[in-house]
Amino acid sequence: MLKISGPQLLSGKVKISGSKNAALPLIAAGLFFEKFTLHNVPRIGDVLTFLSIIESLGVEVDFSNGNTLKMNMKKINIHTLDLEKIKKIRVGIFLFPALLKRLWSLEIPYPGGCNIGKRPIDEHLSAFAAFGYENMGEGEHIAFQWEDNGKDVIIRAGFAVTATENILMMAAFRKGKTTIELAAIEPHVMNLVEFLRSIGTSIEVGYDHKMVINGSINVQKEAEYTVIGDYIEAGTFIILWALTANPSIKIEWVRIADLTAFLSKSTEAGIRYDISDENTLTVYNSRSSLRSAHIQTNVYPGFPTDLQSPFALLLTQAEWISRIHEVLFEWRLNWLVEIEKMKGHIAIMNPHEAMIFWKTHLKGSTVSSWDLRAGVTMILAGMVARGDTLITNVEYIERGYEDIVGKIAKLWWKIEHV
Ligand code: EPU
Repeated sequence: MLKISGPQLLSGKVKISGSKNAALPLIAAGLFFEKFTLHNVPRIGDVLTFLSIIESLGVEVDFSNGNTLKMNMKKINIHTLDLEKIKKIRVGIFLFPALLKRLWSLEIPYPGGCNIGKRPIDEHLSAFAAFGYENMGEGEHIAFQWEDNGKDVIIRAGFAVTATENILMMAAFRKGKTTIELAAIEPHVMNLVEFLRSIGTSIEVGYDHKMVINGSINVQKEAEYTVIGDYIEAGTFIILWALTANPSIKIEWVRIADLTAFLSKSTEAGIRYDISDENTLTVYNSRSSLRSAHIQTNVYPGFPTDLQSPFALLLTQAEWISRIHEVLFEWRLNWLVEIEKMKGHIAIMNPHEAMIFWKTHLKGSTVSSWDLRAGVTMILAGMVARGDTLITNVEYIERGYEDIVGKIAKLWWKIEHV
């Protein structure tokens, strides 16, 4: 459990860590090589779980040196793969591209992940079939076998993030041209695109979310790359500092270009900030200038669903009436009941829409983390609220934010594990 005593003001600076959602597909892409080195990997629960799954495959994993990860794939052995752990994590599905190519068949249980609504994987499955793999899956298992057909293929990815990443990995290491229509282009997807380009894959990305990939079956033995900074962590800290800075806090390694939609809504909602360069931003305490706003989540470059919950929390401190429209996931507003426990005034209109009324004095309470993003939002709420807040299910938060408690505690905030 986490205990936070609020409210309190703080000052200093923070540095943004590597992106969870960029690191995971890059680690999976590393499985194509004999040796792979990845820098700026965040030390978070989801990365450690994925690495332990990979270790159970016989991959030698060295993550002892700060944020640099080294993997050696010489002794891969499918028979020791830990299937139970795959059930806990969404990205078990990332094992297919490299392992199908290496081993010609793979069977895993349906992957798990955060509880934010239906999370179908039909786009992944139809892509694997389009490449010529035979679908042998039954019941709660996903299974494919045989070889890529080497043909030119066109696949629609429905803007799905991990599906686009899986298709990219398969496309890069095969003969033939792959066209992805309706591809996701989130910054983490583009980090994978840039990595694949760095090893010689030709990838065109069009204004219309179309990607054309000319792959190659000649895989080099070693590769090395760097994970980009996490724009979701950056957005979360921008909101937190807007509510608690005294008078301002600097955020470094931000990748401001990834946050255009978020910053546009932040300005509309009255957050005051200065951009010093493309990676550094100073946020000022904005509590007296916060105004209502309407946010609607969308695929990139729209407002990110992963910043919906922290932004909703910000709006509990804004004048007038705000509206949240969560387009992508139908259970991702349920966490707002925790804000009601803290005396926030909200109404969940339907699975995709909620209203937030007036500026409220939140009151410390015992609250639960519904998922990773809603969990971190409880930290923000606890820091704004009067009195003590106890947060349960903290493991959700630790899945995706590197040393979040340490980063906040360094600025003298009263936050501790109890
Ligand atoms: N969808 C389908 N069919 C599919 C795949 C997705 O219909 O085969 C639909 C989903 O139902 C949903 C939408 O497409 O409505 C978005 O799902 P998507 O597949 O894009 O999500 P994801 O790949 O499972 C990634 C991130 C999520 C993030 C979403 C949206 C990773 C590992 N996960 O999930 O991150 O919310 O994209 O941007 O990259 C988080 O970090 O907290 C998190 C949940």
